[in-house]
Amino acid sequence: MMPASRLGHLKPSPIRALSEGAPASAIPMGLGEPGWALPEPGRLAFLGIEGPCAYGPNAGLPELRQAVAEFHGEHLDRVMLATGSQGALFALFQAWLEPGDAVLVPDPGFLSYPALAHMAGATPLPYPLGSDFRLDADAFCEALDRAPQAKMAIINHPANPTGAGAGLEALAKVAEACDRRGILLISDEVYRELYLGERPASLRQVTQSGLVLGSVSKAWGGPGLRLGWALGDPTWLAPARLLHAYMVTAPASPAQRSALALIRESATVLPGARQEIRTRWNAFEEAYRTHFGSAPAQASGGFYHWLKVPGSALADPMAFCLRLRDEGGVVVVPGSAFGERGRHHIRLSFAGQPEAIAEGVRRLAPYWRQG
Ligand SMILES: Cc1ncc(COP(=O)(O)O)c(C=O)c1O
Repeated sequence: MMPASRLGHLKPSPIRALSEGAPASAIPMGLGEPGWALPEPGRLAFLGIEGPCAYGPNAGLPELRQAVAEFHGEHLDRVMLATGSQGALFALFQAWLEPGDAVLVPDPGFLSYPALAHMAGATPLPYPLGSDFRLDADAFCEALDRAPQAKMAIINHPANPTGAGAGLEALAKVAEACDRRGILLISDEVYRELYLGERPASLRQVTQSGLVLGSVSKAWGGPGLRLGWALGDPTWLAPARLLHAYMVTAPASPAQRSALALIRESATVLPGARQEIRTRWNAFEEAYRTHFGSAPAQASGGFYHWLKVPGSALADPMAFCLRLRDEGGVVVVPGSAFGERGRHHIRLSFAGQPEAIAEGVRRLAPYWRQG
């Protein structure tokens, strides 16, 4: 008989499960990835690969680290490249958490955070956000005060799943509280460059402490490149770098070449991505006004809309989303997948094709009219 896995309790992401089980005709508004083409510089970089396809240094290509450092105005030593920001998160959780430790995670929040905590033997402690889902420093600090075993805390802004941001004052207060306790603060800012209005705030505007996460997966349009980074004090990064090297040796070198070309061309790639988002938001907003009869609230950044569900859906949000998928023909994600405090909402991604987004909104609306 095969032994039971230590991680037998880990379940596949409900986002993937909902998307993968969808009828072919269903409109995908579930997955969070850009629906536009990989920008030209990133695509052309693949054609330029000549000679051996080498592993390259464990830390990644020096010119890519340099490009990321320059983009963020950081020193080279403060950049850790990884296989997606997800790879950086995994390595950091493994490097800095021990069984019995706790990690503060936002609720609602990206569902990898609790899973990564469990994989490190630690306990995720959900903390509430403000009434508008923005970072609420007082609520964060209260949760931290109640968690003597906390060794790490995660903030995410603009957020997955809500699109909500964080103010500079709240960021400063949260960073100061974590510094005082000597715990590692990770500020996940992978959606920062995708905005419609003002550029969202960064932890780096208020402090050099804590780590900031970035990625080419969202604004640079290359989720499949699996290339992200963590920025900050090399002392926090060192054990995670080592672990990441044993895990994957280095990020794939063709992906690094492509990411390098994208980041070097940020001055055109990023405004292009914001235009893609603007086109999609316009399609979403117009369809929403037409079929829901009101204006949708605009997020701080990213490509998610956080939509309140009708009262009748509250008893079983997953069953409601399965109905929307199999009967209504639209894949969406129940907010309950992102934490207990997400259960009154669903997450819609408007990163796909504009016509499909408009049609998806048209298909969804009758379920809200039923109440
Ligand atoms: C908030 C957040 N952080 C991190 C990630 C991981 O992104 P990647 O590993 O593609 O950089 C995602 C992906 O959806 C995300 O939504």
